[in-house]
Amino acid sequence: MNKLAIMGAMQEEIEPLLENFENVKVTEYAKNKYYEVSLDGLDIVIAHSKIGKVFASLTATTMIEKFGCDTLLFSGVAGAVNSELKIGDLIIADKLCQHDLDITAFGHPHGYVPGGDVFVETSKELREVAKEVASENGLKVIEGTIATGDQFVHSTQRKDFILNTFKADALEMEGASVAVVCDSLNIPFFILRAISDSADMEANFDFDEFLKSSAKISADYLIQIVKKL
Ligand code: ADE
Repeated sequence: MNKLAIMGAMQEEIEPLLENFENVKVTEYAKNKYYEVSLDGLDIVIAHSKIGKVFASLTATTMIEKFGCDTLLFSGVAGAVNSELKIGDLIIADKLCQHDLDITAFGHPHGYVPGGDVFVETSKELREVAKEVASENGLKVIEGTIATGDQFVHSTQRKDFILNTFKADALEMEGASVAVVCDSLNIPFFILRAISDSADMEANFDFDEFLKSSAKISADYLIQIVKKL
């Protein structure tokens, strides 16, 4: 690995990452800020994309094509779909899908378009490092499916659709688009999330209350992982 990209979607998700660094070079590009730092000799670029799949794709592509990053890690928060996941719990994605990608009118399954796949898998090697770090630090982490869509999910009806259609464990708004970019460009990647809400009727209240604390849980764990790479 020559240069590592670390992404979040929101400022709140990268703030607890940036706190770990003193010398930060800020570059403005494509209406966004990119923070260049280093950790134990490893060059790292940190950025938050803004919310949603389009902005996340732009940022991931920029980090790879403009900044030369060759591995990408994502840290942030997610809504729980699996009822065993509670606020603050950590999930690493083994695969991701787009729950709002729908050309079922033409007989295709949900999440599929010709030339793509319903699920994109994350790097097994990066997951192994993450699991090692979790066991060394006594952290409970589940490995599962993350569903992504351009919607803040706050209804049991939509959540049940995502559970039943994709067997997802958690949902958010960027991961699968980053997965498509990295997979297409042959970049090993890893998506980590801490639960901020349960994607139900309380979700917007819980999200506001737990965004910062869950983002920090994810970021602290991510930094431990980076130190092991
Ligand atoms: N990220 C965190 N919670 C979410 C939710 N309920 N819907 C979409 N993205 C989220």
